[in-house]
Amino acid sequence: MYIANPERYSKMPYRRLGRSGLKLPAFSFGLWLNFGGVNDYEKGKEMILHAFDNGITHFDLANNYGPPPGSAEEFFGRVLKEALMPYRDEIIISTKAGYYMWPGPYGDFGSRKYLMASIDQSLERLGIPYVDIFYHHRYDSETDLYETMLALRDIVLQGKALYIGLSNYNSEQLIEAHKILKELNVPFVITQPSYSMLNRWIEDDNLPQNMYNLGGGVIVYSALAQGRLSNKYIGEIPEDSRAKKDYIVFLKERDITDELRQKLIKLDEIAKKRGQTISQMALSWALRDELITSVLISTSKISQLHENLAALDHLKFTKEEIEAIEKALK
Ligand SMILES: NC(=O)c1ccc[n+]([C@@H]2O[C@H](COP(=O)([O-])OP(=O)(O)OC[C@H]3O[C@@H](n4cnc5c(N)ncnc54)[C@H](OP(=O)(O)O)[C@@H]3O)[C@@H](O)[C@H]2O)c1
Repeated sequence: MYIANPERYSKMPYRRLGRSGLKLPAFSFGLWLNFGGVNDYEKGKEMILHAFDNGITHFDLANNYGPPPGSAEEFFGRVLKEALMPYRDEIIISTKAGYYMWPGPYGDFGSRKYLMASIDQSLERLGIPYVDIFYHHRYDSETDLYETMLALRDIVLQGKALYIGLSNYNSEQLIEAHKILKELNVPFVITQPSYSMLNRWIEDDNLPQNMYNLGGGVIVYSALAQGRLSNKYIGEIPEDSRAKKDYIVFLKERDITDELRQKLIKLDEIAKKRGQTISQMALSWALRDELITSVLISTSKISQLHENLAALDHLKFTKEEIEAIEKALK
């Protein structure tokens, strides 16, 4: 029987989502591509429990995570059933709907029809009566935003989600959505954009400050640019890496360019001076702004999780280090 580490809250910082009552760990754990039906269950379970034992209280899912779609929720549902259910009140589980999930006109985007059906399917796969956060996964320019927001409100009123989040919305879209959600008294507390040293759009959009002004917080994803921000791509592309996996379309060998390698060599020098690896530095860097509540991490091996958790030992940057990183990224 699994018994959680009694010291699990001793090291992880927890940050508040804006002015909401909800705090998230500095690192949250995502189950997008490493916890599907194609992955080894025992290995994945070990990583999830190790994350929880080290203060990671938030696990992030979506209806379509896998592969195949839906299997990551089943994976996590099994871990809950076998080990984590006694700790359910210490855990924040999120899921989402908004990308393609099932064939025909009702399994994609932002209709009420899609969202109401999808949350029921997600709860069934997870084996729980509610999630803590339910997200609309992407802005849908064709569906009236009011329809999508009303569906989110009703999901909360039905007791199927405690809080609402919006993912991949820009500042303008968040402000527009917030207006409706406020009118409808919906607890909208979080947004989930992509962000890394190689992907800075939320800075140009002033998104963290805008979200704070709306009362909520930000959790960022792909802070390692899907693993590109790590020492492993400096040399030959490892056979077991995401870039080499045929069934993954989001990162390909062609994305590991010479330009990237040049940047990694420079970043590695700076990281070494900080006593870190590139991944550890990239994760600490993504957290350097207090307006970023949490950074999602995801790992394919327990050794990566150990490495990433150790980034917590050195989160602060000097002005000189920040400048050196900017120069390396140019
Ligand atoms: N809302 C959205 O639209 C959206 C989109 C994408 C992701 N997300 C969320 O964000 C989470 C994280 O996304 P992501 O997987 O793109 O994150 P990421 O941290 O950028 O990439 C994770 C990958 O990086 C590699 N990695 C991690 N630690 C490493 C280390 N120490 N050394 C070397 N390689 C390391 C592993 O790749 P290998 O597999 O090559 O070992 C791992 O699978 C997802 O699980 C999901 O919850 C949300």
